[in-house]
Formats: sequence, structure tokens, C-alpha cells
Amino acid sequence: MPGFEVIGAEEQTEINDIFARGGVLFRHGFDALRNDCYKVREFEAAFAAYMGVPHALAVTSGTAALRVALAVLDLQPGDEVITQSFTFVATAEAIIEARAVPVCCEVDATLNMDPDDLEPRITPRTKAVIAVHMLGTPARLREISEICRRRNVVLLEDAAWGCGGSLDARPLGTWGRMGTFSFDFAKTMTTGEGGMIVFGDRGDYERAAAWHDHGHENNPTVPRWEDTRSGSGFNYRMTELQGAVGLAQLRKLDEVVRRQRTNRDAIWRAIHDLPGVIARAVPVGSVETADALVFETSSPEVAREARNQLVAAGLSTKILPEAVTWHFAGTWSHMPELVAHHGDLSIAFPATAQRLARCVSLPVVVNMDEAVPARVRTAIESVLI
Ligand SMILES: Cc1ncc(COP(=O)(O)O)c(C=O)c1O
Repeated sequence: MPGFEVIGAEEQTEINDIFARGGVLFRHGFDALRNDCYKVREFEAAFAAYMGVPHALAVTSGTAALRVALAVLDLQPGDEVITQSFTFVATAEAIIEARAVPVCCEVDATLNMDPDDLEPRITPRTKAVIAVHMLGTPARLREISEICRRRNVVLLEDAAWGCGGSLDARPLGTWGRMGTFSFDFAKTMTTGEGGMIVFGDRGDYERAAAWHDHGHENNPTVPRWEDTRSGSGFNYRMTELQGAVGLAQLRKLDEVVRRQRTNRDAIWRAIHDLPGVIARAVPVGSVETADALVFETSSPEVAREARNQLVAAGLSTKILPEAVTWHFAGTWSHMPELVAHHGDLSIAFPATAQRLARCVSLPVVVNMDEAVPARVRTAIESVLI
């Protein structure tokens, strides 16, 4: 979770640098005023290098990153995009905004896309699949990417929670044709609000860069106000202030993930032997970002009582089991596009509904009080026995 916990002097220094060099807050142009200071551009280059990809595009949010990535695919009305039923509303919202039909599938014991449920949902109208790495644990990307390859469907990754994680030593976000990231205030690295898209293909990058900037091609042979364009777009440009913060946060990302993993492991060691605690399934070869520690219990009643006891002890849970409504498609009856495809959402994803109700998710922070693991155990042991 917490890039915000480590915000400090380094971010301030990067911001001050903008003002020391002219105070240009727009990512493009004003060349004579900015003393060669281009923070967003520098942030994109540093992020692409970190991810080991040729191109990265900074945008205003993780939701915008999804929307821009979908714009690259030139979806037509009636095209379907499949994602998982346990994700944040943003994934489905971006599909709807792209005028495609949102389709959700069940999750498995990883709490991410169940490849066995994905394949039967692919139809001739399916154009893309968005795999999500919920709460920092990789989806089964080996199986999902193989299905997408075989069925000729584009794979995108919503790596909002996956920034700094990997599978088979390959960073999350770089398995799909494009990967999207969120830098909102609850993520492993933050720019307050912000997002990024990574690309392997230059053509995809160029389409995304233009679309996120009203269609601007940033043609170097003409001034910006006479710029060339091939299509319309929208405005999802990141500001220089966000780019500056992102540069400093990126340098801290590995350490944030390392400390989260250490703290997650300490909590897990304190509770793993309690009867009825079932570990979340994690694909072999995963490096999780450890945004949360999720485990399954024997029943929804036990999960809810564990939550009650944690709150009574001054601790908390994160999303599961109590705040699932923003994260489970089975509750999104406010999305007519989803209802039109799936019918009664309350019965559309029974395996996911039952599994999520049995799960407890504990927040993991960078600066953890070392008494927390023992306090968690004390709070839940009477419930689980
Ligand atoms: C899975 C997922 N996708 C997308 C987003 C959207 O990111 P943002 O808040 O930056 O728009 C989030 C935010 O929490 C998320 O959890």
C-alpha cells in the first residue's frame, strides 16, 4: 500500500527543482522557459527502464491508464472485453467508457482471474482480456497469456496493485501487450493521483500518446498549436508536479516492496498455524508486492467475526470481508452495461461470491509497529479455533 508513508525530502527536492528551473508545470513546450527541465518525460524514461520496456506513458490516474490502453485497440460497439469479477470498479468503468461490453469471470484461489473460467467466456466478439493482480498477488499469467495467444485475444494487465512485483522475474505489467499502473495515494508508489502505461510496441505507444493528448502527434517540425493529428482523443496528461514526485517515489519502490514483504511475512508467521487459516494461492515464481495479507477462513461468519475482533482490538481489515462492494462485480447493479450482459449480478459469479465472503485481508504497511503480528494473532485466535 504505502508510497505515502515514505514521502519526504526527496519528493520536495524534485518539486523545488521545477521552480528553480523556471516553474513550467506543463509537460510539453515552453522550451525557452524551462532550462531543460522535463519531469514527466524523465519519469516515463525512468519507469520504462525500471520495467525493462521500450516505452512508458504517464497519465492522470490508473483509471485513465486503462481507458487510454483500450483506446489503442480501437474497439467497436459490441466488442467484448473480459476482466475478473474481483477488481476495483475502475477496470469495468474503463471498458464501458471505451464503448465495449464489460464481461467478468470468476476468480480462483489466487483471488485473480480463473483461467478455467476465462476460456469459455471468450466469443468471436472478445477483443481483449484484462488480468488484474489484486492486492499485489500476480494472476496466473502463464495460463492466461497462453489462452489469449491461442484464441487471438489481446492481453492487458491492470497492475494498479502490482507495481514492483513480478512473475518468473518478469515485472507485472510487462506480460501483456500493455500494462497499466496506478499512483493514487494508496499504492506502492504514489504521485497523489496518477498512472502509467507500459508498451512493448512503438505503434501502440504513439497511438496512446496522441489519444491521451487530444490527438496531438507532437510533430517536431511544427509548433504545438499547428500540430498534426490523425484522430481525436482526450486529455489525460500528467503534470510536471506529479512527474517530479513520481521520480522520487520510483527510487524508493524496491525498498517499499521489500519492507512490505518483510512485514507481511511477520504477520503470516504469527497466524499461519491457527486452525482454519487457509493461505491464498500464489503462482510459483511470484514476487508479490504484499499490499495486503489475505487468507481464507472456513465460513463467511468466521471471516466477519475475525473482522469484528480486529476492529475491537484497534486493528483493521482492507476490502475483505467488509468493503467488497467497490471490488466485486456481483454488487455492481449500478452498471447497466454489466447487467445487460450477465443478468442478475447477485447470482452471476457464485464461486467468487462464496470465496470472497470467506476471506480476510489485512493491510500491510512499510512502517509497521513490531507488536502488530502478535496483536493480530491475539485478536483472531479465539474466533478461528
Ligand atoms: C485494480 C485497480 N484498477 C484500477 C484502479 C484505478 O486507479 P486510480 O485510483 O489511480 O484511478 C485501482 C485503484 O484502486 C485498482 O485497484
